Amino acid sequence: MKLISLLPVITLIIIGFILDQTYASGIGTCYEHTTYPYKHETMKKTKCDMEKVRGQQQLSSVVGNLSPDQAFVIDFHCGVSDKTLCSKAQTAFNLVGKRIASVLKINVVIKVNATFTDFCVAFNECISGSAAPARTIPMVDSDNITRLYPQSLVKQRMLSNRPQLGTYDIVANFNSQANMFFRGDGKIKPGQFDFEYIVTHEFLHGLGFGSSWRTYFSNINILTPMPIDDGMTFVGFMETEFDRYMTVQQNGTSVPMTSLTKQLNSIFSSKNSGTVNFAGTPQFKLAQQLLTAASTPSTMNFVTNSKDKILLETSINPFQDGSSVSHVDSKTFTTNSDFLMMFAAKDGITLDDVAKMNGDPTGTGIGPKTLNALETLG
Ligand SMILES: *[C@@H]1O[C@H](CO)[C@@H](O)[C@H](O)[C@H]1NC(C)=O
Ligand SMILES: *[C@@H]1O[C@H](CO)[C@@H](O)[C@H](O)[C@H]1NC(C)=O
Ligand SMILES: *[C@@H]1O[C@H](CO)[C@@H](O)[C@H](O)[C@H]1NC(C)=O
Ligand SMILES: [Zn+2]
Repeated sequence: MKLISLLPVITLIIIGFILDQTYASGIGTCYEHTTYPYKHETMKKTKCDMEKVRGQQQLSSVVGNLSPDQAFVIDFHCGVSDKTLCSKAQTAFNLVGKRIASVLKINVVIKVNATFTDFCVAFNECISGSAAPARTIPMVDSDNITRLYPQSLVKQRMLSNRPQLGTYDIVANFNSQANMFFRGDGKIKPGQFDFEYIVTHEFLHGLGFGSSWRTYFSNINILTPMPIDDGMTFVGFMETEFDRYMTVQQNGTSVPMTSLTKQLNSIFSSKNSGTVNFAGTPQFKLAQQLLTAASTPSTMNFVTNSKDKILLETSINPFQDGSSVSHVDSKTFTTNSDFLMMFAAKDGITLDDVAKMNGDPTGTGIGPKTLNALETLG
C-alpha cells in the first residue's frame, strides 16, 4: 500500500527497556543514531541479522552483576586543546556512569562513545549536547508487538540468539563551549549548568527514557510513533519500549497509547491495498487529537510495572519534539525527588544539591519514580 501526502522526516529519539521475555524478531533492520548537534537526532538504517551467541564471553568479557566501577566503559574523545578541561569532562563522564550503576543492576558492560568538543566551531551550533542509544533494535514483545529497544537493554538479556550489536550502546556528544560547572571548580555560579546533572539526564535517555511519539511530518500537525518505511513507501508506525507504558486521558479514561498505535497502523492492513489518502481517515483525526493532548497539561502518564503513574510533560504548547512527552511533568516534579527527567535543568545548582534540597532518598538525583520507570523498562 502507498501513502500519499506524508514524507517521514528521519529525525528522532528512540528508546526502550523491559523486564519480561522478548524474542528477537529477525527483522534484520536496526537503527543507528547519532546525536550531532541537529535539533533532533538523526538515524539511519543498518543491517543487523540474527546471530548465535556462543557463550557469554562473546557478549562481553565482563558479565554478572557488575560493580558501579565496572558497569560503564566510556571511550572519551576530547576535541579541545585545554587538557585540564578535557580531564574534568572525562572524570565527570566516569562519575555519571558510577552514579547510575550505583542504583541500577547492570549485568553486561554498557559502552559509551563520549565526545567533548567545540560544537560552535565544529558544527556552527551552540547547543549543550545530548545522548542517545547508539543502536535501537526491533524486538517482539510479549504482546506480539514489535518495538524498538536500545542495544544496552538487548545486551542485558544475554539472549543466545539475537540481532547483531554495534560497538557502542550509547553515543554522547557535549559542547565544550557551554557554560558548564565541573566538580572541583569551587562554587557553581548562576547561569552555569552542572555537567554531571546534564550528563546523567542524557545518559538516562541513552538507556531508554524517551518516547517515539513526535511530529514527524513537516507541515502536518499530527502526533505519531516513528514512521517506518520499507525503502520505498511508508509501511507503519513503530513504538519504542518506553511507549508501551504510556497512557493518555481520553474522555476521562486512561487509554494505553499502544492501542492507539494499533488503530493508526490499521490503515496499513492488506484490505487497504493501493493508495490511501491518510488525511481523510479517522486515523488522521486521531493523530491530530493526540497532538492536542500532548500539548495539554496532565494528559499523559508513564505507568510502571508496579502501577506507579508518572505524569509526563505535556504542558509545552506548541508541542516540542524531544522536550514534550519524553520528560516528566515540570509542574509536578520541580521540587520533587524525581526532578532529573524534567526537560529543563536548573542553573546555578549542582545535581547533588538539588537532590538534597528535593529530598531524594537515593541521594543520586535519580529519584524513586525515575528508578521505577527504568526498572520497568528493563
Ligand atoms: C566515536 O566517536 C568519535 C568521536 O566523535 C567518532 O569519530 C567515531 O566515529 C565514533 N565511533 C563510533 C563507532 O561511532
Ligand atoms: C503471539 O503470537 C503467537 C504466535 O502467533 C501466539 O501463539 C500467541 O498467543 C500470541 N500472544 C499474544 C499475547 O497475542
Ligand atoms: C469523546 O467523546 C465524544 C462524545 O462522545 C466523541 O465524539 C469523541 O470521539 C471522544 N473522544 C475520544 C478521543 O475518544
Ligand atoms: Zn531530556
